[in-house]
Parts: sequence; structure tokens; C-alpha cells
Amino acid sequence: MQKILVWDWPVRIGHWLMVGGFVIAWLTSESESFRLLHVWAGSAVISVAAFRLIWGLFGTRHARFSSFVRGPGAVLAYLGSLLSLQPRHHTGHNPAGGWAILALLILGVLTGASGWAIYNELGGHWLEELHEGLAATMLAVVLVHLAGVFSGSVLHGENLVRAMFTGRKTGETDEAIASPRPLAAVVLLVWLVAAGWWLTR
Ligand code: HEM
Repeated sequence: MQKILVWDWPVRIGHWLMVGGFVIAWLTSESESFRLLHVWAGSAVISVAAFRLIWGLFGTRHARFSSFVRGPGAVLAYLGSLLSLQPRHHTGHNPAGGWAILALLILGVLTGASGWAIYNELGGHWLEELHEGLAATMLAVVLVHLAGVFSGSVLHGENLVRAMFTGRKTGETDEAIASPRPLAAVVLLVWLVAAGWWLTR
């Protein structure tokens, strides 16, 4: 086992863009004067989440849903190994974290889409309630996600947050991805700007 490249550039850049977008959208959610900033931040969340859902089908090995979205048996086995304080090491996402990640991406799209509809004066009060409910659900999943990241880091003795910056984790050499896919990251950034312009025009 040694340090190998696991997370490509689109995964890493997309992650920190989602974090920034989510935090800014929360902080500006109640303010009329920051309404446009709120809409921009929300459009960053929805466009990155939509890109990531597609990247989960065509991206690099550990970015693919097929590599980390597992059935209930695998999730329960992982949670059981967590409780025994000896969690099984996964080079990519673990089976429990995988479902939180999928939920965050879907909630990112749904929260952003409902916000976009409100911004365009579609729907009524019910849509605002739905938007707030989706955002609150997303916050709850983010808190579970953070608890999983920090407990996983401690129990595995591996800094998972640093790995989301460097892309490197402990694993077998044949599990490494061949390229960090910089061109796909450029496509993500162009998509982010184009979608942001279209959603907020
Ligand atoms: C400062 C707060 C956050 C930190 C430190 C953090 C950290 C991390 C880490 C370390 C991972 C990799 C987990 C693993 O090794 O399996 C990860 C994955 C992920 N996180 Fe976060 N996270 C934060 C906030 C968020 C927020 C606010 C969202 C969504 C709005 C989010 C969405 C995701 C997603 C979608 C992934 C999967 C990455 C991918 O495969 O593309 N995270 N996060």
C-alpha cells in the first residue's frame, strides 16, 4: 500500500466549488440585498452537481457510481466494521459515504432547480416551502457527511480532507487512476460559467 492518485481534477475542483456554493447560499438565504449572490451560489451548486452526476457515469475509476454505490449488505457491513472501530479500508468512497454523496448530488440539483423556479416566479408559496425543506435536508446530510469524513479520517489514520485537495490516498498501485483529467476540469469550469449565466439571466 502506498500513496496513489485516486481523485481526478473534476472531482476535487467540483467538491470545493460545491462547498463554497453551499456555504454562501446558506449564509445569504435570508437576505434581500444578497439575493443575486444567493442565486449565483445556488447555480454553482446545481451546475456542479449536474456535472458530477454525469461524471459518475463516464469519469475515472473511483469517481464512477458503479465503484462506490453499493447495496444495503455492503453498507451494513461497513457500518458494523465502524462500530467495532476497525473499519474496512476503501481506496475510493466507502459504501456508507457513497449514499450520502449520491443524496447530496441529487439534493443539490433539486434544491437548485426549485430555487431557479422561484427566481423565475414560477410556483407559489408551496415552492418556497419545498426549497427551504430541501435546503434543510441537504444541511442535515452535509452534517452526516462531515461526521463520516472526520470519523473515517481518525479511524483510518488518513487525512481524507487533504486527500480531497491532493487527490492522493493510500491504496494498491494498480488502483491508481492514470490521469487527473485536467481537460475535463476545464469543461467543468466552462460549464459552470455557461450554466451560471443561463440560470441567472
Ligand atoms: C468544509 C466542509 C466539507 C469537508 C471538509 C468535506 C470533505 C470531504 C471529503 C474528505 C470527501 C471525500 C470522502 C472520502 O474520502 O470518501 C468529500 C466528498 C464529497 N463531499 Fe464533502 N466536505 C465538505 C462539505 C461538503 C458539502 C457542503 C457538500 C455538498 C454541498 C459536499 C459534497 C461532497 C460530495 C458530493 C463528495 C463526493 C466527491 C466526489 O466523489 O465527487 N461536501 N467531502
